[in-house]
Amino acid sequence: MPIPITDGRPIRWGILGAGGIANTVSNDINLTDGNVVTAVAARDAERAEQFAARHGAARSYGDYTSLVDDDDVDVVYVSTTHPHHRAHALMAIEAGKAVLIEKPVCLNAADAREVFAAATQAGVFAMEAMWTRTNPLIRKAQQLIADGAIGDVRGVRNEFGLGLPFDPTHRLYELANGGGALLDLGVYPVTFAYLFMGPPDEVRTVGTLSPTGSDETVAMQWMYGGHPGAQLWTSAPIHAPNEAAILGTKGWISLLPEAYRPTGLILHTPSREEHTGDPLAGHGNGYGPEIEEVERCLRAGLLQSPLIPHADTIAILEILDDARAAVGVVYPGER
Ligand SMILES: NC(=O)c1ccc[n+]([C@@H]2O[C@H](COP(=O)([O-])OP(=O)(O)OC[C@H]3O[C@@H](n4cnc5c(N)ncnc54)[C@H](OP(=O)(O)O)[C@@H]3O)[C@@H](O)[C@H]2O)c1
Repeated sequence: MPIPITDGRPIRWGILGAGGIANTVSNDINLTDGNVVTAVAARDAERAEQFAARHGAARSYGDYTSLVDDDDVDVVYVSTTHPHHRAHALMAIEAGKAVLIEKPVCLNAADAREVFAAATQAGVFAMEAMWTRTNPLIRKAQQLIADGAIGDVRGVRNEFGLGLPFDPTHRLYELANGGGALLDLGVYPVTFAYLFMGPPDEVRTVGTLSPTGSDETVAMQWMYGGHPGAQLWTSAPIHAPNEAAILGTKGWISLLPEAYRPTGLILHTPSREEHTGDPLAGHGNGYGPEIEEVERCLRAGLLQSPLIPHADTIAILEILDDARAAVGVVYPGER
């Protein structure tokens, strides 16, 4: 088991990769009370230096090895594009570092199993950065359902359409950089349905490919005992509202405007309609609860978070593997 960090000092974060999401999350790390961006590494030393200056990090590196070997880093945030998550996470784990790995944690379930097994073997904490699962409104929806507020859950609807026009050089379309709607965007509706409905008995998938061969638009129907329980959809080029609804025998819950980062919840029953606003309003970009969950786990000496267990992350990637196979997407070099 990891040694709990109990001396009250801030958790020191090392940022591996200095791209878009690393910038957004680093902002939120420094907004929490118990965490600080300590170091950053990028392939380009100058870019790493600029990133460090922007986020007040003490050190910057032009290579990832120096970051994972930094004794003053407690947890490495793997924020590179998804084909690189496996190698970068393994590199950090081998150096004895806890890891928070961006979603999708790996390109496929086999790689995810390898990464989590390595972390467990090394006795270090590992978690997929599936921030939606730590969002307070998602957790409120879970509590409402557990309290019976909408009766038995019978269905979920959710989509994630980004509206990014086709561009063969953009990472969302470039196969060599993990391009495709399912892994980048579809991972959210799949996680959402998995969270509220559990694993399906059968999945029916249809989809289209972009000119690079990445999955462009995909729809899934999840079946439970012959009943169509979840309707999920994702698209890189088509923009969509991205709301979600959880349907029960006594009412429904709506999460909006975008279910991957909801800022509003509506509980609707025949007798009432109750609105809940955003508990995170004015507190950064919405990643605080994810960062604080990592902090909580490190202070408790846990290997994984009960909010985002390894087994769920793997099971969700298995569903995504099958969906990708159904539409015919294979990544270069994929085993
Ligand atoms: N949780 C969320 O809300 C959220 C939002 C957006 C993205 N993400 C996830 O975060 C990851 C990164 O997304 P992003 O939008 O931040 O991507 P990005 O800015 O395009 O790239 C992130 C970093 O990955 C490395 N990289 C990019 N392209 C590469 C290539 N062709 N070869 C080698 N390294 C490459 C670079 O690291 P260096 O800086 O070292 O050069 C880059 O800074 C993805 O897995 C994505 O799914 C999560």
